[in-house]
Amino acid sequence: MVYSQPHVYATIFALSVLKACALDSYIAAVYEHSVILSEDTKIPVSPEDALMLMNKNMDVLKGAIKAAALQGARIIVTPEDGIYGWVFTRETIYPYLEDIPDPQVNWIPCTDPDRFAPAPVQERLSCMARSNAIYVVANIGDKKPCNSSDPKCPSDGHYQYNTDVVFDSEGKLVARYHKYNLFVTETQFDYPKEPEFVTFNTSFGKFGIFTCADILFHDPAVVLVSKLQVDTVLFPTAWVNTLPLLSASQFHSAWAMGMGINFLSANTRNSSLDMTGSGIYAPNGPRAFHYNTETENGHLLVVELSSHPRLSPTYPIAVNWSSYATSIKRFSPDDRNFSGVIYFDKFTFTELTKPEGNRTVCQKDLCCHLSYRMVEKQEDEVYVLGAFDGLHVVEGEYYLQICTLLKCKSTNLKTCGQPVATAHTSFDTFSLSGTFGTSYIFPEVLLTGVQLAPGEFQVLSDGRLINQNGTSKAVLSVTLFGRWYEKDPPHPQQVFALDSYIAAVYEHAVILPEVTGSPVSSEDALTLMNKNLDVLEGAIKAAAQQGAHIIVTPEDGIYGWVFKRDTIFPYLEDIPDPQVNWIPCTDPERFAPAAVQERLSCMARNNSIYVVANIGDKKPCNCSDPKCPSNGHYQYNTNVVFDSEGKLVARYHKYNLFMSETQFDSPKEPEIVTFNTSFGKFGIFTCFDILFHDPAVTLVSKLHVDTVLFPTAWMNVLPHLTAIEFHSAWAMGMGVNFLAADTHNTSLAMTGSGIYAPEGPRAYHYNMETENGHLLVAELRSQPRLSPTYPSTVNWSAYATSVKRFSPDDRNFSGVIFFDNFTFTELTKPEGNHTVCQKDLCCHLSYRMVEKQEDEVYVLGAFDGLHVVEGEYYLQICTLLKCKSTDLKTCGEPVATAHTRFEAFSLSGTFGTSYVFPEVLLSEVQLAPGEFQVLSDGRLISQNGTSKPILTVTLFGRWYEKDPP
Ligand SMILES: *[C@@H]1O[C@H](CO)[C@@H](O)[C@H](O)[C@H]1NC(C)=O
Ligand SMILES: *[C@@H]1O[C@H](CO)[C@@H](O)[C@H](O)[C@H]1NC(C)=O
Ligand SMILES: *[C@@H]1O[C@H](CO)[C@@H](O)[C@H](O)[C@H]1NC(C)=O
Ligand SMILES: *[C@@H]1O[C@H](CO)[C@@H](O)[C@H](O)[C@H]1NC(C)=O
Repeated sequence: MVYSQPHVYATIFALSVLKACALDSYIAAVYEHSVILSEDTKIPVSPEDALMLMNKNMDVLKGAIKAAALQGARIIVTPEDGIYGWVFTRETIYPYLEDIPDPQVNWIPCTDPDRFAPAPVQERLSCMARSNAIYVVANIGDKKPCNSSDPKCPSDGHYQYNTDVVFDSEGKLVARYHKYNLFVTETQFDYPKEPEFVTFNTSFGKFGIFTCADILFHDPAVVLVSKLQVDTVLFPTAWVNTLPLLSASQFHSAWAMGMGINFLSANTRNSSLDMTGSGIYAPNGPRAFHYNTETENGHLLVVELSSHPRLSPTYPIAVNWSSYATSIKRFSPDDRNFSGVIYFDKFTFTELTKPEGNRTVCQKDLCCHLSYRMVEKQEDEVYVLGAFDGLHVVEGEYYLQICTLLKCKSTNLKTCGQPVATAHTSFDTFSLSGTFGTSYIFPEVLLTGVQLAPGEFQVLSDGRLINQNGTSKAVLSVTLFGRWYEKDPPHPQQVFALDSYIAAVYEHAVILPEVTGSPVSSEDALTLMNKNLDVLEGAIKAAAQQGAHIIVTPEDGIYGWVFKRDTIFPYLEDIPDPQVNWIPCTDPERFAPAAVQERLSCMARNNSIYVVANIGDKKPCNCSDPKCPSNGHYQYNTNVVFDSEGKLVARYHKYNLFMSETQFDSPKEPEIVTFNTSFGKFGIFTCFDILFHDPAVTLVSKLHVDTVLFPTAWMNVLPHLTAIEFHSAWAMGMGVNFLAADTHNTSLAMTGSGIYAPEGPRAYHYNMETENGHLLVAELRSQPRLSPTYPSTVNWSAYATSVKRFSPDDRNFSGVIFFDNFTFTELTKPEGNHTVCQKDLCCHLSYRMVEKQEDEVYVLGAFDGLHVVEGEYYLQICTLLKCKSTDLKTCGEPVATAHTRFEAFSLSGTFGTSYVFPEVLLSEVQLAPGEFQVLSDGRLISQNGTSKPILTVTLFGRWYEKDPP
């Protein structure tokens, strides 16, 4: 890429005059640097010697930075380890480290070098950025002193981090990122406690940053792109090329394409370690790349990129990666498969014996289909189609699903999968697809000489990677490289975290405002909120004294309910994005007025406990936004979380508002909010959200949170939707810890809070007798999925679809439960086997009562349909329940007491959905922990009866795909 300098300058100048605040495109640079290495990294050197070596490397980088700036580059990325090299011990890296402050301090080392001295490396990098008016991205080492009060403090008294820094064009430190996924050999560095999601905004887009092996894992890489929506990723790396699937340019360009992102990758150059391969990659293909095994020189790449690639008309369409592959039958039988190894993974291969053909090869759940036509079949070259579906376990553990067409090293099939860098076979066409279980697929096409193929292939929306017109060079490999993050084992840092923690929820009897029909003053609003906060403060203190790590308080718990848009307004605060790193307790003025946030933050900080609360957020908008409400504000029902130092770590705007919540707006899209702690990964949503797919199900099944935080103001609805009943069933059905804090108000039937584990409730509270609040405290596993008692996966319809009807349908009748028209059949005998069906759902029940009571009637019921009152959602429900009276017309009406005991029951249904929540509710609205179980074939059974008479036994199924949009 050669740019004529005056032209570039003119372009940039004109752009900056016309659009001072936002550029549509910018010029990016990456520098592949041949690092000058220390002579011996086994013995410690003096800080002076360390600095001398680093200065030699920075002399080279300075030249590259200047050259990039002269070509108009706005930002330049330099490689990982680019300033001091590699293979250190903890002790020998130490003289190279500097204490790098949090960028929040607003520091320009170039103009204020003594503020955090000694920091000569930061000073020099800052000056290079400033004097060339260019953002500089570099990788250096950070040291942070710690002491014995921190049980994890390393014995040498320092944390040492592999660190990326970014200085803006004035030389200010604007980003600092500590590498989270250290490579196995990086024993000189520590893991940060949690993954850091580091972003910064510029006039040419939003940037995120991570380092080298991070690219293989979910956190922080995927989160930066899919959740934080950065435009460009900055990627310093020291990447050792591994053919056939993991050479630098090949994998990095594929990641950019698969994730739909700009990607600036700067590799080190070192021939003995086979390090080369840097590039500037856009979502629709490489813009510039460099792969050089001939010389030992560094190399600068400079090219233009779109600032906001998602807004570009050429932005690739969304891909359903398995759509084509699952829609067709196998192309070929598996009678000639053989196995072979690629980078320690055992693939299943099949040889492409003909010049053209259609082949399928499968491994576990992954089938790979290939259609191809070679220009000519070369006798001395062998190609295979391969599939791998499994956990990679060498040099890092990560789950892969890979479909690949590749050239074998020789004509001996035993060499298939071994590295080979040249080929002579050209293809006229190919089409590769796979039945992937993940949506994270990175499409690779690598040509002879380890070259990329920009513009020579495409990915169709049905998941086929195709080429219709040949490639410019012979083919080494064509690959769909899939990463299935949910199947990864936990990060090494998280394994050492707490195995269990103490959770608290507080059911709060909210002190309600006297007036909600007309606006009050901000002072009156705050007075009322402070009254509630006084009560919550007592609960938070009590929880902390019992050792709780986190406490959840209810929805509407600080100001109550039944507001209008204008009457809630004085209660709202502007709640910033947690990315700003704010501790309201120590810095209350920064986003003032924020009295409520300040108090909550101080309660968390003073008691060293995470505090979860529900308050109202206001966000000003104006007429340039056509959706801006007429009062000039969006108003959100909002959960906030403050960590044990009082920092705001999560903010969630409720997505599924209840009908009556007209005082609030829904956010434009569901927000998927998670945060990590030393006691597991947390997700959060609110009340009515629990009935819908987004964000609730996504948090658990896609982001794999360990615990859900759930502030709610839940009105109990018997027989299926009382708070404790439904929330404990959701925790069990989803296999997640669930902390539910309800408001307490008996006149609105609000009561029912709990601490629920996947195996069953650990503590719960239901009380219609008093008007008092109530604190629950119980221990939970930090990562319930790792526990030996974690429930096995359930196929909810396996048993029910394998049996015939137990009974005819000649005595069915219909009845209504919470506006839904069920089909019922009466249990007339003390024991029996019954089946009742509605539409596609058949429910089977086997039961034996201790004694049939003459004055109590039980029915088996089925419902398969769209619920349409107070929200629309599709249900499939099988239920055994007690009717309100002996009149069958009352079956389905709320009833809270019973006298009939069951010795045994077994309930199952032919569900079309895999989201089924198992409920058992006993007389007086009590749960039955440990008194029933769910078998892997989908039967909800009790073999020894329950401790109290039964109100209902229910399989509550939600079929999200059938919900209206
Ligand atoms: C491969 O399949 C395509 C479409 O299904 C068909 O047109 C073609 O003839 C097949 N090629 C061979 C060699 O079987
Ligand atoms: C296919 O390749 C040939 C020669 O390389 C070229 O002339 C032709 O335009 C290409 N067709 C398409 C559809 O790209
Ligand atoms: C409920 O179902 C019964 C029997 O199928 C039917 O007669 C009745 O009209 C339905 N009621 C409603 C409200 O849909
Ligand atoms: C119910 O079915 C079970 C097993 O299929 C059988 O052993 C039992 O006798 C049946 N009970 C009645 C009352 O029909």
